[in-house]
Amino acid sequence: MEEKAPLLLTIAVLGGTGKEGKGLAYRWAKAGYKVLIGSRTPEKAAHVASEIMEKLEGSSSLVGTSNLEAAQLANIVVLTVPYTAHRDTIENVKDAIKGKLFIDVTVPLVPPKVTKVQMPAAGSAAQEAKAILGDDVQVVAAFQNISHEHLLTDEDVECDVLVTGSSKEARTEALTLVEAAGLTGWDAGPIENSVVVEGLTSVLININKQYGSTHAGIKITGVKK
Ligand SMILES: NC(=O)c1ccc[n+]([C@@H]2O[C@H](COP(=O)([O-])OP(=O)(O)OC[C@H]3O[C@@H](n4cnc5c(N)ncnc54)[C@H](OP(=O)(O)O)[C@@H]3O)[C@@H](O)[C@H]2O)c1
Repeated sequence: MEEKAPLLLTIAVLGGTGKEGKGLAYRWAKAGYKVLIGSRTPEKAAHVASEIMEKLEGSSSLVGTSNLEAAQLANIVVLTVPYTAHRDTIENVKDAIKGKLFIDVTVPLVPPKVTKVQMPAAGSAAQEAKAILGDDVQVVAAFQNISHEHLLTDEDVECDVLVTGSSKEARTEALTLVEAAGLTGWDAGPIENSVVVEGLTSVLININKQYGSTHAGIKITGVKK
């Protein structure tokens, strides 16, 4: 495998032992970022980190640890936990995130009706995160429409990533990570727009169910980059 120049940024993926987080961690580690997998159980995170390193034939920097330590040691913190764990996980690492970029991948699904859009009172999961984290943290919502099935492969992904967030600067930084993961990203505007992107996931799950797929996605057309 081709040697990657090490990048200065360290990315923490909280809940990185799960389906979506593991896939993102794989793609960023492959791109040369130092990645910290966070978990409630550090041993589980260490196991997942070594699994990914094995897949990358050792040419990567991945460490597994607790969610809190991962958040403390990283420059950028990504959250990939089920919505039921969203608030508690953020509250537990809140102090460690001050001054950092926080990327929320959470979709506020309400089982069992995950094919129906059921947004929280704050508008979206990302807006809830912003309300908890306050002005010291730039919050971006991204990757909600990318099925994990794509991420642990090296294949091109057709589905685009809509990036919304609390500042243009934060969205631009997150778009760099989208491209690093081998995906096409679009600046989709302020964090209020995350309502549409998070809600769109239920629409895609519904389409999957009706048409016998597991990874329906979206593609922006009519614009040249
Ligand atoms: N799967 C997808 O294709 C996909 C696509 C787009 C967006 N998303 C969104 O990304 C997020 C993660 O999805 P996923 O499929 O990766 O979820 P998952 O595999 O079910 O869970 C991810 C991780 O979250 C942690 N977790 C689970 N339950 C928890 C709890 N009650 N309290 C604290 N932590 C808990 C676990 O880590 P530890 O046990 O190691 O702590 C788990 O490995 C969700 O919000 C989902 O809607 C998923």
